[in-house]
Amino acid sequence: MADAPNEIKHVASPLARQTLLDAKLTRPVADKTPIRLLPWLQVVKIGGRSIMDRGADAILPLVEEIRSLLPEHRLLILTGAGLRARHVYSVGLDLGLPVGSLAPLAASEAGQNGHILALLLASEGVSYVERPTIANQLAIHLTATRAVVGSAFPPYHHHEFPTSRIPPHRADTGAFLLADALGAAGLTIVEDVDGVYTTDPKGPDGKQAQLLRETSATELAKLKGTLPFDRALLEVMATARHIDRVQVVNGLEPGRLTAALRGQHVGSIVKTGARST
Ligand SMILES: Nc1ncnc2c1ncn2[C@@H]1O[C@H](COP(=O)(O)OP(=O)(O)OP(=O)(O)O)[C@@H](O)[C@H]1O
Ligand SMILES: [Mg+2]
Repeated sequence: MADAPNEIKHVASPLARQTLLDAKLTRPVADKTPIRLLPWLQVVKIGGRSIMDRGADAILPLVEEIRSLLPEHRLLILTGAGLRARHVYSVGLDLGLPVGSLAPLAASEAGQNGHILALLLASEGVSYVERPTIANQLAIHLTATRAVVGSAFPPYHHHEFPTSRIPPHRADTGAFLLADALGAAGLTIVEDVDGVYTTDPKGPDGKQAQLLRETSATELAKLKGTLPFDRALLEVMATARHIDRVQVVNGLEPGRLTAALRGQHVGSIVKTGARST
């Protein structure tokens, strides 16, 4: 009896006996499309610098638009950091702080913007929720209410990649990672420009800037200039599982966000590497 195999100790697992580094071996097990956790969710990223820093003139009309969208959509609204984070970066860089220390400082500025937005929508039952709540209890919150607000920054902190002194994974990347992981219906990025241009429309070559109504992460990766979102977003778009397109819209133009959430093409559509499912 002592030699009888103990089946409890021999749990069959197709990944048990092989390295996880060999994609040929892991693919048959790992290459399944993940389920969409919240397929009815619309994620909206609100620009910190482009919208929130402009104050009442930009924020209040957008708040009214979001208010009118609530009966139609269940929203995860994620805010970017804006000017205060840029100030924190410059102070922190001057002091020699590492990139992983700057990331949470900027994230807290994004959170402040989220608190502001949530307070303006509080009468509709909208609250700011912290990251662990988004990670673990988003479904129950969005069953109780039509929208919640959070910081768009990913929680990399001291795990942030030290590829540059300014955290490379910022609000746009964070919003995309969340939307894709949740299998959301869509992600809309709200800016103060009509979409993605060939060059910054407010920069020195602004007159030559052409709006890219439809483009892809692969095409944008070839553009050497600036973008209206984190460049790291292009990298995460390449390996996306669910979000096959992101629309960048002008939040200073009334009705654009509403139209985008209704599936209309009113800004720049950026295609990702995900196959539509
Ligand atoms: N290729 C481009 N196409 C469109 N806008 C661009 C481009 N390059 C730079 N921009 C500029 O990016 C600006 C938006 O800046 P940014 O993305 O830093 O703001 P934000 O998204 O509000 O900030 P945050 O990341 O803090 O939320 C636009 O106002 C525009 O001038
Ligand atoms: Mg931006």
